[in-house]
Amino acid sequence: MVAIRFIAVDGSAQTIDATVGISLMENAVANGVEAIEAICGGNAYCGTCRVHVEPEWRKITGPITEIEEPMIEASGDTDPGVRLSCQIEVTEALEGLVVHTPESQS
Ligand code: FES
Repeated sequence: MVAIRFIAVDGSAQTIDATVGISLMENAVANGVEAIEAICGGNAYCGTCRVHVEPEWRKITGPITEIEEPMIEASGDTDPGVRLSCQIEVTEALEGLVVHTPESQS
């Protein structure tokens, strides 16, 4: 288990014990992070699982992947740390990760 913190637009925070080997989105949904709707179930098709990764973590979570690009572009989300959480696999390296959820998902 790795601790991952989700911070909502209103500043409220929720730290979850995430399971390694599944996506950040799946972990968020399993732990009741309300801002992660994930309507498409992880197919990079809905954009309702977006997170904004804090700057110091972006090297570890990596850049937007090719599969994410169209949906992120369509969402109009220009945050430099934006990712689809369904495309981020949780690993031990993410212990202590902090992400923000966008206003459109609040
Ligand atoms: S769950 Fe739909 S884009 Fe990630």
